[in-house]
This record gives sequence, C-alpha cells and structure tokens, in this order.
Amino acid sequence: PIPVIIDCDTGVDDALALLFAVRHPALDLRAVTCVAGNTDVDGVVRNTLTVLEQAGAPGIPVGRGAERPLLEPARSARHVHGADGMGDLGLPAPTRVPADVDAVTLLRREILASPRPVTLIPTAPLTNIALLLRTHPEVTRNIERIVFMGGAVTTGNATPVAEFNVWHDPEAAAILLTAGVPITMYGLDVFMRVVVPAGEVHRLRASGEPGTRLAGELLAHRPTAQGEQPEAEEAGGLGDAGAVCAVADPRGISTRLLPVEVSLAPGPSRGQTVVDRRPRPGESEIHEGGRERALVDVALDVDVDRYVKLYLETVER
Ligand code: BDR
Ligand code: CA
Repeated sequence: PIPVIIDCDTGVDDALALLFAVRHPALDLRAVTCVAGNTDVDGVVRNTLTVLEQAGAPGIPVGRGAERPLLEPARSARHVHGADGMGDLGLPAPTRVPADVDAVTLLRREILASPRPVTLIPTAPLTNIALLLRTHPEVTRNIERIVFMGGAVTTGNATPVAEFNVWHDPEAAAILLTAGVPITMYGLDVFMRVVVPAGEVHRLRASGEPGTRLAGELLAHRPTAQGEQPEAEEAGGLGDAGAVCAVADPRGISTRLLPVEVSLAPGPSRGQTVVDRRPRPGESEIHEGGRERALVDVALDVDVDRYVKLYLETVER
C-alpha cells in the first residue's frame, strides 16, 4: 500500500476523507496531523480522534499542530461545519489524547521512518506543512508527492476568487507550492463536482456499522441558518475525500502541469491561486515578471461516477 499522511482541519468533509483513507486497501494511513481551519485546533484534534475511533482505527497517531496561520489570526468556518466543526452530530468524545509530540515533529518522524516515500494529503490550511518544510527541509527526500485540497482555477468560496484553505493561510500555501516536490492541486473546480446521490446517502445512514453510518450522516450534513431543520435526504459532496480518492485512483482525475502562484497582496485577490492556462511555448513560461512560478499538476476534470463508486465501495467495506 501507499504510505500516506493526512493533514486536516476536521471538518465534515475531512472526516469523510479520514473514513475513506482508513478503509482503502491500497492506502496505509501512517499518521494524521491537525491544524486550525474549519474550527480551532483543539476542536480539530477532538473531531479527528473521534472519527478514527468510529472508523475502527484508534491506533493511528494524531498530532496537534498550528493554532493559527503564519501571519493572520485564525478564522473558523463554523457557519459551514457547525458549532463543533463537524456537523453537530452529537458524536461521543474521544477516549484517547493526541500524540505527545506536536504535528510538525510527528510529520518529520513518520516521513523519515517510512520505508517508502510518503504521499502527503493536506485537506486544510497549509500552516503545518509550511512549518514542516521550513523547519525540516530534509523530509522532502522521502516525500513522493503532495496532493492537496485547495485553490481554484475559476471561482473561489471564501472570497469570489479564493478557496478557503489557501485563503486562510496564503503564505503557507505559497511555501508549499515552491517546495520543490511534485504537487497535485485538487481544487474547487473538481472538489465541488463529486456528489453522492441522495439514495446512496440514505443507504449509508441506515447501516448498522458505525463508520459506514457516520459517512452517511456526514454526507447528509447541510449548513443551515440558525434554527432551521437540515434537509434529511439530500445528495452529499465528497469534498476533501475526493483528494484522497485522487491518491488511491489517480486515473479518476485529469491534470495538467501549469504554473500556479498564490496572490499574497492585501485586497480582493488575496489567497487566489493564479493558474496560468495560456498556451505555453515552453518551460520559460515558469518565469513571469521576474518571478519564478511553481509548476503544479492541476486537476481540471474528474470522473464523478468513478469516485462516487470508489468511495461507497470503500466505506462500506
Ligand atoms: C475546504 O475548506 C473546508 O471548509 C473544507 O474542509 C475543505 O477542505 C474547501 O474550501
Ligand atoms: Ca478541510
């Protein structure tokens, strides 16, 4: 199996990603690290530990990471993910505590200890990953690839042009992109498209197996205005779990190697991933206005049915 580490801000759809990673036979989930994003980092740690227990994988080390982005204060997404950051499903508190080392130390240890190069899957603001790359650059020798959920070629969500994970910590995202390791960007353009039909969500919710049932509950979660009842029987997006599908089954996405830059300027474009899709005469295109731009494998299309099928097969194992 492929050794993977997920860095997340669990998070309704991060939880879907964890459930999938734990159950997919071609993936060896070696650690999970947590960062402030959808909710505060302690909430993320708690949610992550709970999900791993529900998934039947209580032994995977979990590291507590950055409490806030490199430059800015943390800004949660509770309006999307509920007061507990994970859909307010009333899940039990975890029975264990995180690792006694911080996320960056855990990442370094697990990456260097892996017998095969690790694939990192960040599904959250990139603060932990940026700190890792700056503090312990030697880890890149045992990183196969970084497949991150973040960015957008066309439309943003946190702002008209910026996707939440990159917008939350743009400097960290810029450090990731220029790390010199192969990077796949699983951005909003594909993220938004992979949706599980309502009937399948209903079936998962009726399961007697806790992990499968949890996947159904999470897929059914809908952000609601205060006091409003969530729609019970709706289709649900895989969200971050799609990025893990892209590691287990890379042929489900179509990518192109394109120059990508993060807008760090204050103002309306901050946090935008500027993807250059102009026809390119050659490699010289990575230089733009004197700056050197990263070449990133950008996911431009996704086989929706293939990933929905893969997800369902895997979590119903
Ligand atoms: C990303 O932001 C978070 O709310 C989701 O978990 C996902 O990682 C989408 O922009
Ligand atoms: Ca996330």
